[in-house]
Amino acid sequence: MRGLDFFRGLAAVLLALWLLPAQASHGVYEGTVGKQAIVLTLGNQNAVYQGTYAYQRYRTPIRLKPTFSYSNKVLAMDELDEQGLPVARLQFNDLMNSRQQEQVRGRPLVFLDSAASAQKPRAVIEAMAHAMEHQYANVHRGLHWMSERTTEAFEACRDAAARFLNAGSRDEIVLTRNSTEGINLVAHSYGRGVMRPGQAVVISEMEHHSNIVPWQMLRDAHGIELRVAKVTDAGELDMDAFAALLADGKVGLVAITHMSNVLGSYTPAERIVRLAHEAGAKVLFDGSQAAVHRKVDVQALDADFYVFTGHKLYGPTGIGVLYGKAALLERMPPFLGGGDMISTVSFERSEWARVPHKFEAGTPPILEGIGLKAAIEWVERIGFPAMEAHERALTDHALARLSAIEGVTVIGRAQDRGGVVSFTLDRAHAHDVATLLDRQGIAVRAGHHCAEPLMRRFGLDSTARASFGVYTTKAEIDALAEALTRVRTFFA
Ligand SMILES: Cc1ncc(COP(=O)(O)O)c(C=O)c1O
Repeated sequence: MRGLDFFRGLAAVLLALWLLPAQASHGVYEGTVGKQAIVLTLGNQNAVYQGTYAYQRYRTPIRLKPTFSYSNKVLAMDELDEQGLPVARLQFNDLMNSRQQEQVRGRPLVFLDSAASAQKPRAVIEAMAHAMEHQYANVHRGLHWMSERTTEAFEACRDAAARFLNAGSRDEIVLTRNSTEGINLVAHSYGRGVMRPGQAVVISEMEHHSNIVPWQMLRDAHGIELRVAKVTDAGELDMDAFAALLADGKVGLVAITHMSNVLGSYTPAERIVRLAHEAGAKVLFDGSQAAVHRKVDVQALDADFYVFTGHKLYGPTGIGVLYGKAALLERMPPFLGGGDMISTVSFERSEWARVPHKFEAGTPPILEGIGLKAAIEWVERIGFPAMEAHERALTDHALARLSAIEGVTVIGRAQDRGGVVSFTLDRAHAHDVATLLDRQGIAVRAGHHCAEPLMRRFGLDSTARASFGVYTTKAEIDALAEALTRVRTFFA
């Protein structure tokens, strides 16, 4: 009888394997189970379908549910649906979905705040919900089946992040809570553990507070000098001034944004690395914005550290990535102490786990890691060439439309820029502009954007900022321009 069970179970699995790729869409697949629980994983380069069933009685039906309910077709950004919306947008949550779109004050939401946090594709939502429904336990230490499966699902995020950044090895990926934690980790561990008092850190005038404050704390605790590279009136890094800061050979680390969250400007990453390395300094890039808009290859760039944050890359909050070259991570002491980051503990002393686990104390963001993996795969299905082209077209359109409105000044005119446009309106405070735009269903951000020193550099205390994602349309930018024209008449 046991032999018969086994063959019936095997037949069910083979049936499911045959059904799944043929019907890669919504659905529940029926079959007959044997006595063992089995995870089916079918992979191809675009998507992975995963079906699970729990132990059930002989002859009861099993339910196999694909993790993602999409075809595995590569998404084309220039493909529009009958309403003229990018097809990719229809794969997002209801906030972005034209057919059930959330109404804001009686109008469809125009969401132009992706640089603060992006909306989520259903692939991310479903991957996290699936994990909570079917595949949840604590990771790493468990010897039971569910813990092992959840560990695999969580650790797959490290593989996805390594591929996304083209890291040399998955061990060079530290999973953090966000970019801020990644930068603090380097400031604390590399800064205090490897750098010597008297050395300097170079940042720039266009940093987010996340890439300023940790270095001030290092300066005050460890006798490190903090040097600030200038930004030109066009909003680009002043490369002559930057090179001059490196000239005395005292700089141990350059910590610099790869793309400004206020000006949209990219920094010339390859030149920065070359000049820094020639001067004997390591380089950390804050890729919180850049990694969302442009393919990053840390090996080609020869970056020493690179951070990004999941929630801006269409993933969940509470998860970020720190890439560090293996040789540097090996030299660095742990940042936080606790469970999961040790190999042995006694009251006299503790020994650390190997890299990267040495830097991941405590229960990690399990569901968030599973969500970030889904987000990375989703972005890879569109591909950066298509995303960049879409965002460049939107940015050019936005610059043209906003500049044509009397009284509107766009801040920053960098040649190389991504989908972020900051602006001011004569006689109006940015908060009032944002509030009046909100009354018309348009979500923009207003304030100092966590970049107070940059605001001062441009003689401002705040700007309004529109930022774009893969789901943004030209029509939404037109809606912003028209709404802003109405706001202007209010203050005229
Ligand atoms: C350039 C830049 N750096 C760092 C951050 C901080 O990101 P998080 O709050 O996710 O750590 C942001 C977020 O706005 C950012 O735009």
